[in-house]
Amino acid sequence: MIFDVLTLFPEMFECVLSHSILKRAVEKGKLKVNLINIRDFSKDKHKRVDDYPYGGGPGMVMMPQPLFDAIEFVKSQGNIPVYYLSPKGKIFTQEMARELSKMERIALLCGHYEGIDERVYAVIDGEISIGDFILTGGELAAMVVIDAVTRLIDGVLSHPQSALEESFSDYLLEYPQYTRPEVFRGMRVPEVLLSGNHAEIARWRRQKSLEITLLKRPDLLKKANLTEEDKKFLREKGYEI
Ligand SMILES: C[S@@+](CC[C@H](N)C(=O)[O-])C[C@H]1O[C@@H](n2cnc3c(N)ncnc32)[C@H](O)[C@@H]1O
Repeated sequence: MIFDVLTLFPEMFECVLSHSILKRAVEKGKLKVNLINIRDFSKDKHKRVDDYPYGGGPGMVMMPQPLFDAIEFVKSQGNIPVYYLSPKGKIFTQEMARELSKMERIALLCGHYEGIDERVYAVIDGEISIGDFILTGGELAAMVVIDAVTRLIDGVLSHPQSALEESFSDYLLEYPQYTRPEVFRGMRVPEVLLSGNHAEIARWRRQKSLEITLLKRPDLLKKANLTEEDKKFLREKGYEI
């Protein structure tokens, strides 16, 4: 998958792209990130990309000219949707990550300062927010999107099953995980996980997953795909279904 990232700070991406799963995805040819510096498109003699807001008020606004030219440069290479990372956007979820992972190429526009000139909306295709808070710039949000989407691309994870079992994959939070040693500071790994009985382990994990979701994010249960056995278990825990 190809991401075209439009940013004023391309160097911010170097670190995340050169570690762990994203690094391996790049090496395997599963991920390509084209970093496009918006400043390179400024026609101002001082390469300015921001200016004061009409009507007054604090901060600066990203000017339309460099943004239009940078976006048109990307769009001249194909039918590439441009998503603006913005606190006003649709909240990014695992479901959205799954949808985006099916696409061949998308562009991510990172804002800065007070954001972009409103007229730039004419050339963007969507807006993505990573949550109800304000970041300094869209770069960290773009990295979040790239990371979450890349894990879902076929062939990126060495154990694809982990993407299916992780929290949110079925609107349920993941079951508890343990590793060695069997006893740490008096705390034991649950006996069932040492039993070798795969059916019992699967049942225990499913029930823990339901229990944790009920405790920490009951709102998710409304969307989860629940079996009759799941519903019975949740009713026993006091959940009305
Ligand atoms: C300081 S913010 C601008 C906030 C803007 N003045 C507002 O109140 O909506 C600068 C940039 O950070 C990015 N940004 C901030 N919060 C974000 C969020 N929650 N999700 C995605 N991008 C965000 C956007 O690209 C935005 O243009």
